[in-house]
Amino acid sequence: MNILGIGSALPEQTVTNHQLEAFLDTSDEWIKSRTGIAQRRVMKESELTSLALSAAQKALRDAGLKGADLDMILVATTMGDYVFPSLSCLIQEGLGATCPAMDLHAACAGFIYALETADSFIKAGKAKHILVVGAEAITRLANWEDRATCVLFGDGAGAVVAGPGEGLKALRLTARTDRNALYMLAEPGNNPFTGKPEEAPEGVKMQGQDVFRFAVTQSIEDLGWVADQVGVAVQEMDWVLLHQANRRILDAVRLRLKLDPKKVPGNIHRTGNTSAASIPLLLDELYRAGLLEPGQLIAMSAFGAGLVSGACVLKWGKEPPEELTAAEDLFSPPVNIMPEV
Ligand code: ACO
Repeated sequence: MNILGIGSALPEQTVTNHQLEAFLDTSDEWIKSRTGIAQRRVMKESELTSLALSAAQKALRDAGLKGADLDMILVATTMGDYVFPSLSCLIQEGLGATCPAMDLHAACAGFIYALETADSFIKAGKAKHILVVGAEAITRLANWEDRATCVLFGDGAGAVVAGPGEGLKALRLTARTDRNALYMLAEPGNNPFTGKPEEAPEGVKMQGQDVFRFAVTQSIEDLGWVADQVGVAVQEMDWVLLHQANRRILDAVRLRLKLDPKKVPGNIHRTGNTSAASIPLLLDELYRAGLLEPGQLIAMSAFGAGLVSGACVLKWGKEPPEELTAAEDLFSPPVNIMPEV
């Protein structure tokens, strides 16, 4: 599988930590020092479809393809604007495509899970061009009265067009169920026969230290596994793109693997944690800034609720775009290191 085109989109609305101080018992200093986040993008109600469509259109344009050229649309998302139709069907309509379309839910690792699915369809000869989107509106799911979780998240969408080729060198997926570490209960319906739920839904619930421990150890293990498959040490990769979950997690992985900070870019300070959108968003920012060159090896690692994880190594095959955008601050300073937990 090769990446033929890439694009991304962020909501216009920026919400700073100072805006959160107005209604939450928190501070800019607390959030920045523990998560690296200074601001996040927050969509307007029902804006996810147009964000995902915009990312998809940019990826198609970049690939020189049209909606009609697609053989499949895969969208990694926790929940679109509708429970159904799927977000992928709404994107299909917007692109004027006629191919099969489905959503895939693997939380923050969803984009890597979707890449593996696309690669399998392409290798099997069942599809030539697959649109793979990571799109999330996690701020809609968050509990904005819970300062421990709502400060972490942001919304966004990233998309790639995958096609035949030898660019995907290795990929690993894992799942090890631990409901309590990170979960969100579905809203109960009004079915009079089901009885009352044992636990009332309260948005995203997280044991932060358990998630930290899982994310750091799993990411290091996954990156080592995919690097071994390729026969190139993680430290020798040109880029290591980590799911932008929390700057502390990124720094812990970077330090424990002794990675060159210049190879581990980050945008979490500007975007917050955008779940399945975070890896394609970051990849697109690097590409648009002209930092990706053909032949470079890019390792990617994502982890999230489930608990699930995914990592891969991609040999980049595209020339930089003709029109470059300014390299927005992609290497924010590290935050306080999380004590061993
Ligand atoms: N502002 C001010 N105080 C806060 C805030 C906040 N936003 N959030 C929590 N606190 C308080 C708590 O109430 C607690 O106060 P108390 O001691 O009076 O009870 C204190 O800070 C410490 O709370 P902890 O939850 O123990 O905070 P911790 O030091 O563990 O930091 C954090 C929380 C930053 C989330 C940390 O656990 C962490 O980095 N975890 C990694 C998990 C993560 O970032 N997940 C991202 C999303 S999931 C994913 O994408 C995989």
